[in-house]
Amino acid sequence: MRLAVNIDHIATIREARKAPEPEPVTAAALAELAGAEGITVHLRTDRRHIRERDVELLRQTVQTKLNVEMAATAEMVGIASRIRPDQVTLVPERPNELTTEGGLDVVAHRATVADVVRQLRDASIRVSLFIDPDPDQVQASRQAGADAIEFNTGPYATARPGERPAQLSKLADVARMAAHLEFEVLAGHGLTYFNVQPIARIAEIEELNIGHSIVARASLVGMERAVREMVALLVL
Ligand code: PXP
Repeated sequence: MRLAVNIDHIATIREARKAPEPEPVTAAALAELAGAEGITVHLRTDRRHIRERDVELLRQTVQTKLNVEMAATAEMVGIASRIRPDQVTLVPERPNELTTEGGLDVVAHRATVADVVRQLRDASIRVSLFIDPDPDQVQASRQAGADAIEFNTGPYATARPGERPAQLSKLADVARMAAHLEFEVLAGHGLTYFNVQPIARIAEIEELNIGHSIVARASLVGMERAVREMVALLVL
C-alpha cells in the first residue's frame, strides 16, 4: 500500500499569515524522505491554500508522483496542461465548503467529465476520478475514460462504529469491481491514525491519499522540538 501525502494544510498555515513559511515544497521533500510515494495538492478555484506557484515549484521538485486535485473546469484544465503534473484527480468543488464534501457525480456529468479526461490525457496526464463507492459511478468512470479511481472514504470515516462494517464492505466490493475494470484503485478522505488500517487491508486499493490527519499530527509531535529550538535561541 502506497501513501500519498496531501500537503494542502501546510499552505493553509502559510496563508493564515500570508507569510513565506511554512513552504509546501519543503514539506513535500520531507514527506518523500520519510517514505511518501506521492504528493497531493488541491488547487482550489479560490486559491485558499495551494497557489499556482506551489504547483509549478512542486512540478520541479517532487521526486515521486505529483497529483493535483482540481475541479473539472476550463481554467483548471489550462493550468494542468501547462504545468503537467503526473496525475490530476477531478473533484467536485463547492465555493464555501470546508473540504471536498463528496465524490464527483460522473453519472450526471458523464459528457463533461469525459471531455475533460480526454483533454488531460491528450496532455499526457493520468486522470483519476474522486467518486463515492457506488457501482454506477465506477461504470460511468470507465465510460469517461479515466485511468484511476479514488474512492471517497469520508462516509466510512464519519460512520458510527456500528455502521462502519457496512461502509467497509461497500468499499471492498467497489474496489474489487474497479480493479476488475482495470482501474488503478486509490482511496482517501478523512483517514486517520485510528481508522486507516481496515482500509489498508483492502487488497485492491493501491494507494491512500491522506492530508489533514498527518499535518495535524506533525503540528503536535513537532511542537516540543520547535519550542526547544526557540528557547535555545533566547539563552544569550
Ligand atoms: N482525497 C481527496 C479527493 C481530497 O479532496 C482530500 C482532501 O483534500 C483528501 C483525499 C485527503 O483528505 P484528508 O485531508 O481528510 O486526509
